[in-house]
Amino acid sequence: MSFCVAIDGPAGAGKSTVAKAVAAEMNFIYVDTGAMYRAMALFFLRKGIAADDEEAVAAACPEADISIAYENGAQQVILNGENVSGLIRTEEVGGMASATSVYRTVREKLVELQQALAKRTDVVMDGRDIATVVLPGADVKIYLTASTAVRAKRRRNELAEKGVTRPLEEIEQDIIERDYRDMHRENSPLTRVGDAVLIDSSEMTLREVVDAIETLIRKKRGE
Ligand code: DC
Repeated sequence: MSFCVAIDGPAGAGKSTVAKAVAAEMNFIYVDTGAMYRAMALFFLRKGIAADDEEAVAAACPEADISIAYENGAQQVILNGENVSGLIRTEEVGGMASATSVYRTVREKLVELQQALAKRTDVVMDGRDIATVVLPGADVKIYLTASTAVRAKRRRNELAEKGVTRPLEEIEQDIIERDYRDMHRENSPLTRVGDAVLIDSSEMTLREVVDAIETLIRKKRGE
């Protein structure tokens, strides 16, 4: 049986940084499910499909073949044979991913792929519905969050590193809207399950968050 760690939480809480570090230190595979929704979103954008056109999204779904591969331990997302990992981190793709991940057809396709991955190997998987839908039997469940102000600041710094300047208020407003959509959609909204451990990273360092999760993993394994 593979060992599964589920990390859910809102955008910008630090899920991927934390999940990557835990996976590397514990020798697990890191599965970034957001990247899969982003690859699907890129596919829809390229086809010129509007985010609110559910019928067109559903009709196009079977044409998108998504898979993942690992290069030096880093997850690569492959869309119809093309490595699109470098193309999916834009605001445009993120917004489209949030908008099209509300559709059942999109979710069913990706959940199936995610479950198949977790069956084969020990994983740290992050997303919005990992503990609720993808891996309800996960050995360790984490709900990682941070205040909107802290998440907006982190996002601003990330953008600044890429040479993009955006007003903090605008970034925070985007985060609030994204949270609302991810938490209030009909299909698999982001919520914290009762047995998920709540970690608020607002006042914590990366090291502290990683240590907290690794302690939970070791405890569960009886180490
Ligand atoms: O984590 P991220 O920002 O890369 O995710 C992009 C969008 O994909 C996010 O707004 C919601 C959606 N998503 C989802 O619905 N379920 C997941 N398991 C992961 C992401």
